[in-house]
Amino acid sequence: MCGIIGIIGKNDISDRLLNGLKNLEYRGYDSAGIATIHDKEIHRRRAEGKLINLSHEVSKHPIKGSLGIGHTRWATHGVPNETNAHPHATNMVAAVHNGIIENFQTIKEELGLLGYKFQSDTDSEAIVHLISYYLDKGLSPKEAFSNSLNRLEGAYAIALIFSSNCEKIYGARSGSPLAVGWGDNEMFLGSDAAALSNETTNISYLEEGDLVELSRDGANFWNKLGEEVKRDIVESKFNPIQIGKGNFPHYMLKEIYEQPTVIGDTLNTFFNPADSEIKLPSLGVNLAKISKVTIVACGSSYYAGLVAKFWIERYARVSVEVDISSEFRYRETPLPKDGLTLFISQSGETADTLAALRYAKSQSQHIVSLVNVRESTIARESDGLLLINAGPEIGVASTKAFTCQLVALAVFTISLGVSKKIIDKNESKKLSKAISEVSSKIADILQDDLQIKSISDNFSDVSNVLYIARGSEYPIALEGALKLKEVSYIHSEGFAAGELKHGPIALIEKGVPVIVIAPEGPLYEKTISNMQEVIARGAKVIIITDSDKLGDLDKKVWKIVSMPKVDNFVNPILYSIPVQLIAYHVAVSRGADVDQPRNLAKSVTVE
Ligand code: AGP
Repeated sequence: MCGIIGIIGKNDISDRLLNGLKNLEYRGYDSAGIATIHDKEIHRRRAEGKLINLSHEVSKHPIKGSLGIGHTRWATHGVPNETNAHPHATNMVAAVHNGIIENFQTIKEELGLLGYKFQSDTDSEAIVHLISYYLDKGLSPKEAFSNSLNRLEGAYAIALIFSSNCEKIYGARSGSPLAVGWGDNEMFLGSDAAALSNETTNISYLEEGDLVELSRDGANFWNKLGEEVKRDIVESKFNPIQIGKGNFPHYMLKEIYEQPTVIGDTLNTFFNPADSEIKLPSLGVNLAKISKVTIVACGSSYYAGLVAKFWIERYARVSVEVDISSEFRYRETPLPKDGLTLFISQSGETADTLAALRYAKSQSQHIVSLVNVRESTIARESDGLLLINAGPEIGVASTKAFTCQLVALAVFTISLGVSKKIIDKNESKKLSKAISEVSSKIADILQDDLQIKSISDNFSDVSNVLYIARGSEYPIALEGALKLKEVSYIHSEGFAAGELKHGPIALIEKGVPVIVIAPEGPLYEKTISNMQEVIARGAKVIIITDSDKLGDLDKKVWKIVSMPKVDNFVNPILYSIPVQLIAYHVAVSRGADVDQPRNLAKSVTVE
C-alpha cells in the first residue's frame, strides 16, 4: 500500500524524505516522489519503479526546501509511471494520498468544465485541483482543504503543502492511517511509526475524520465535527534496527528464522513458563458466557482463524464461524447478542478487516483483535487486545506473524476451554506444555532447511502445485499454497484431501507436484489413501510427516520431509515451517522479488 512522509525541518530535507520513504518500502510500491516548498514555489521529483530511481533523479536535479512531503505509490488507478506518481500538484498545492477517492471521476468532470487541467489517470490528482478550486475562490489553505474533504468519498490519508505557506503541512485521515511525529522544533507526518522511526518515537495518531495542521512548534487537530481536539502523544515501540536484514539475503528468510525467538516472546506475554499458568490480558468479556466465536480476517490471518476454528470447537467445545473480511462486511450475517467477534490482522490496518470490525461493533458485538502492532487502528478500535510479539514483519509474505498468531490462538483456546470448564487442569497443563515446546521444535526443523532447499531446486519448470491435508492441517495446506503463489508466482492451490475426488483430482497428471501434509493422528491413514490416489495418477508427491510407517510408499513418493513428533494440538504451528521454506526457496530459485512480490503490498489499506 502507499506510504506517506512529511517533514517540517530546519534545513533542506530532500534526503530525509527519501530516508523516510525507505522505511516504507516494505509496504510494497511501484513508483515514488517527493515535493518541497522553496521560495514560495513547489519543487517536485518523481520516478517510476524503486526508490533508487527517485534517489538518482534527486541527485541529478537536487531540490531545496525545509518543508516537504514524500510518497511511495501502490497503483490503484493508472499504471505505475512518473506521471501517475505522487505528489500531485498545481502551482498552489502539492498532495500525497493513500486510499481510494471513489467519486474522483465526478470531481474531475466538474473541474474539467471549469478549466482545471488533469495530467494523470489517478483518483488522487482530483484532490489538488479541488483544493485549488477553493483557493481560487479566496478560501484559506485550511478552509480549502476542509471544504475539499467534505466533497471526497472513499478512504484516504492525505498530506499536503501550499506554495503560499512554507511553514505548514496539513494532513487528514478517513479509513487509512496517519501519524504525527513530534521533534525538537521539527514536526513530522507519516503513514505509520515506521515512516517516522528515523526522526522520532513520539507519535500521535489521527482518529477517523481528523484534520491536522503542523507547524514547527507543534500540531493542531480538528475532529470530523470541526472541533479542535487534543491527541495523545505515545512512545512508539518501533525500532528501526529491527527492520535490518542482518546476515540474511531476504527479510522473509530472516523472519522465518526468527520464529523460535518471537514465538517464545509471544508465549511469555500469555503465560508464565515456570508454572504454565495461562494469563490472557483482560479482554473485557466473561469467556465463560461465550456461546459462539466469530473470526474475521484476510489472507494468512484468515487461515490462522480456520486453524482456531478446529481448536476452539475441538478443545473448548464452542462453535466458531470464520469469514474473510471482504465478504463478512457485506454479508450482514445475524450475530448472537453480545457475541465475541475476533479480528486477526498482523498489520492492524487492513481496510476490509477494519470495516468488518466496525460492522460488528454496530451489531453490539464484543470486539477482540489479535494484532502485531499495538498502535494500529484495529487495535485502537477494539474492546480487547491479544498482542503478538513478532516484531516488525517486513517481508510481504507473512511467516513469523502467522505462527505467532497461531500460538496466541492456541492460548486463547485453552483459556476459553478452562473458563467454560471444558478443559480441566491436567489437560490445560498438557496443552500448555505442548505449546511451550514449539519454539525448540521449530528450531530443530530449521536445522533441516537444506532438505527442503534441495526439493525447491526442482521446481524451476513447475506451473501448478497442489497442497492437501485434513483436519487442523487443512488450513496449513491453504497457507502453504498462498505462500508459494505470492512469492514464486506459481499457481498453487490447497485442498481438503477428502475433497480431491469431488473435482480437484482432475488436475492430476504425470509430474504434477502434490505436497501432502500428513502428521500421524486420527486422519493420517485417510490422508495417505488420498496420497496414493494422486500417486496412481502420476503426481510427484512431497510428503511432510512425522510418520516412520510409510513402508514401501517411501519409494513411490518424490521426497519426504521428516517432522518431529509432537502433541497433535500444535501440529498446525510446526507444519507451517516447511511450507514457508518451500515457498521461500522456490521463489529464490526462480529469481522472484521475495520480499516485495509483484502487485502485492504488506498492508492492504484499501478495499
Ligand atoms: C500473507 O502472506 C499475505 N501477505 C496476505 O494474505 C496477508 O495475510 C493479508 O493481507 C492480511 O494482512 P493482515 O494480517 O495485516 O490483516
